[in-house]
Amino acid sequence: MALSTQKVTPETMPEPVDRPTPRRKPKREVTTIGGRTLKPSTLMMGYGYDPTLSEGALKPPIFLTSTFAFESAAAGKRHFEGITGQREGGAEGLVYSRFNGPNQEILEDRLGVWDGAEDTLVFSSGMSAIATLLLAYCQAGDVIVHSGPLYAATEGFIARVMARYGVRYVDFPAGASRADIDAVIARGKEMGRVALIYLESPANPTNALVDVEAVAAARDALCPETPIAIDNTFLGPLWQRPLDHGADIVVYSLTKYAGGHSDLVAGGVSGARYWIDPIRALRNTMGTILDPNTSWMLLRSLETLEIRMQRATANAVAVCDYLKDHPKVEGLGFLGLLPEGSQKDIYRRHCTGPGSTFSLFVRGGEAEAFRFLDSLRIAKLAVSLGGTETLASHPAAMTHLSVPPERKAALGISDNLVRISIGIEDAGDLIADFEQALEKV
Ligand SMILES: Cc1ncc(COP(=O)(O)O)c(C=O)c1O
Repeated sequence: MALSTQKVTPETMPEPVDRPTPRRKPKREVTTIGGRTLKPSTLMMGYGYDPTLSEGALKPPIFLTSTFAFESAAAGKRHFEGITGQREGGAEGLVYSRFNGPNQEILEDRLGVWDGAEDTLVFSSGMSAIATLLLAYCQAGDVIVHSGPLYAATEGFIARVMARYGVRYVDFPAGASRADIDAVIARGKEMGRVALIYLESPANPTNALVDVEAVAAARDALCPETPIAIDNTFLGPLWQRPLDHGADIVVYSLTKYAGGHSDLVAGGVSGARYWIDPIRALRNTMGTILDPNTSWMLLRSLETLEIRMQRATANAVAVCDYLKDHPKVEGLGFLGLLPEGSQKDIYRRHCTGPGSTFSLFVRGGEAEAFRFLDSLRIAKLAVSLGGTETLASHPAAMTHLSVPPERKAALGISDNLVRISIGIEDAGDLIADFEQALEKV
């Protein structure tokens, strides 16, 4: 069988054990007023929730239940006739909490608003979202084409876990040109069916951008049935909307900017229903869904998402403006200070803001970087990013310690690299903190 030309459809996926469960609809949403389309920041306060379904509670209660009662035996039968296909129209209402629940459904509706996505799923972590996506789309003999670098656990899952099930990969560097992307996809097609193109932009930890439009054009020319998934954790959902640039599935670690308070772990995928259905079926089977309590916390986070991301980004611009000319700073990897060139060109086409996570290269090596980190008084020394508080870490000695030296060198993960995620504190206070820490170097 010529696998590389086989259409990737839900029919070619492994048979799902459970079918998706459509929801009981809340009242009709108000999404326009007088011809004006309401903005996501407005919709975050109520979209997807109907108080009349919850005793009039203004905010959704947390639904701690593992199962949902049928209204009658006939309703239960009707439900199962729907999910088994014996009746047109599919299942009605909620049935079991491994498949979905009210808090998760409201959250999924609201997340989808930001990306302009038809359907969204939430997961127990960014990694469980990514793992469920990869397992849903790939089978033995398939090839994943991905950009590099990826978040270390994603790279490991593709290279080591998916390899155990006969799935191989080829990769191209994040900044690759159309010609280079074409060549890597062509190499992938020689190895087997290209089941998935997986991108991360900006990449963790280098901030390198992928030209999503060029990848989409290459896909259309070389493997038109293959979906493009992209990890949008660093800039999304505010500063980048990859579905508008040719991607099919957007992936998130919601632990970061979406959660935004460094107090929860969650993940998400969004896209057209056609692409999300196979992932939903596998999530139903595996139970990688997010719990109701964390979903509720995320609903709260989304109400302030725009102002948090705007403030953190304005702070990062101010801090980087101070750092860029400091004599003890060798360089900055900040999207707001890209020199003219192909990365700036991608930035202009794909992004509406630089975010607040960047690399700071301290003049010197590990000793100087450590002295800087240990001297910070406001910024906390911790991995992760996207919280209300400023965090700083040392990728070479922490998150990327196990990466071989040659790969670290190729990715620019040097001993003097400090990764910073700016929060929503006062910008002047943050500058004062960096100033006194650099004095100690
Ligand atoms: C870009 C990116 N994707 C995915 C993940 C994994 O997300 P989680 O930690 O929520 O599983 C991370 C975590 O740092 C990340 O930075």
